[in-house]
Amino acid sequence: MDSGQTPSPEVLAGTFGHHDEHLDDVFDTYRRLRSECPVGRSDLYGGFWFLSRYDDIYRAEQSVEDYSVQPSMLLPPVGQQRPLIPLDVDPPMLQKYRRIMLPAFAPKEIDRFEPTVRRVAVDLLDRIGDAEGFDASLEYARPFPMTVFAIMAGLPLEDLGRFNEWVERLFYVRTHDFAETERAAAEVCDYFAETWRRRLNEPPRDDLIGRLMAAEIEGRALTEEEFVDYAFLLSAAGLETTAWAVRAAIWHLAQHPEDRRRLAEDPSLMAVATEEFLRCLAPVQGMARTLKNDVDVRGTRMGAGQRVLLLFGSGNRDETVFPDPDTLKIDRVDNPHFAFGVGVHRCLGSNLGRREVRVALEELLKRFPDFHLAPGGEPVWHGVGPLSLVVDR
Ligand code: HEM
Repeated sequence: MDSGQTPSPEVLAGTFGHHDEHLDDVFDTYRRLRSECPVGRSDLYGGFWFLSRYDDIYRAEQSVEDYSVQPSMLLPPVGQQRPLIPLDVDPPMLQKYRRIMLPAFAPKEIDRFEPTVRRVAVDLLDRIGDAEGFDASLEYARPFPMTVFAIMAGLPLEDLGRFNEWVERLFYVRTHDFAETERAAAEVCDYFAETWRRRLNEPPRDDLIGRLMAAEIEGRALTEEEFVDYAFLLSAAGLETTAWAVRAAIWHLAQHPEDRRRLAEDPSLMAVATEEFLRCLAPVQGMARTLKNDVDVRGTRMGAGQRVLLLFGSGNRDETVFPDPDTLKIDRVDNPHFAFGVGVHRCLGSNLGRREVRVALEELLKRFPDFHLAPGGEPVWHGVGPLSLVVDR
């Protein structure tokens, strides 16, 4: 392709990817794909189909007869040897595994836990103190969900540094150095196997680890491997996603004083705004499935055994569902987005995730109603990279 020439939909589709290195201007790509190539095929990660329109993604999410999550929903996977639980498990075992953790993430439980979430945010802001500037990603968005998760799970806070490093190696290295990601996955498994053995010798505790250890499935306790695969997924699912969501919302607010002011003046808008941040700047742009049967979508036949990526990030901006989809409107009310998925695998921690985002933003704006991006850097909207801010006083 000559430089400057607009790539054809086929070329665009052939090199399409949904990870950090492809996301800078992905929303333009999504718009073209939805209109010119709603069912496309990329050559990356061993080759995969992708669906970019809202209705097609919705239907695929509902169709467990045709779409399986094995061997993994993650494309590429995060280096684990066994399926993550419950992410990579199909019904009927899926529901049995989900039942174990659903009560821990029910709205009432999250209400009870909210003061702790708030305290974590306030402590991090206290540490930033009256600095003239700070890195909202490194000093706030990233440590926040990690600390919340460690408290909720009952893991030692001094292990947070290791989680920070694992998140990096699991999610951001897998597209170019899979061996390194496999090593990180093995370390996470060792960590939770050690946790299992330590906790077996301690009195039972009322935290996520305790809940997993006490769980029964089909009339028996979880095996050590099941425990490790579930704990791995819980830790991996809730850290980078929430950090991304908080960072992305702050990235937007740093550039939109009018939105910042509205939210500072009317905090009751925050719940609605949180949904809009999640729609527009979704931390999970796509999740994969594997076809159990041949499936036709819009006249394209996809063969059994092939991988299909459901592009949540594109569905979230589908013009047939969201008027003016590329504008982030903090008061958008009708907002059936895909940030947490919509099928049987719908995010188990969504009540916690959205509460964390809301509380993190509320506390940030209370402390720093005005801030802007530090000059010199051009932080991207996606990922959990640096986000240097200058505080306006
Ligand atoms: C803003 C933050 C979050 C976002 C955007 C998010 C997004 C997602 C998405 C897109 C899925 C897959 C849904 C599908 O393919 O249909 C998922 C699954 C999951 N998430 Fe989250 N998540 C977030 C926070 C959390 C938190 C805090 C936890 C718990 C600590 C969590 C636990 C899970 C689990 C256990 C699954 C697997 C559910 C299953 O396979 O049945 N997530 N999440």
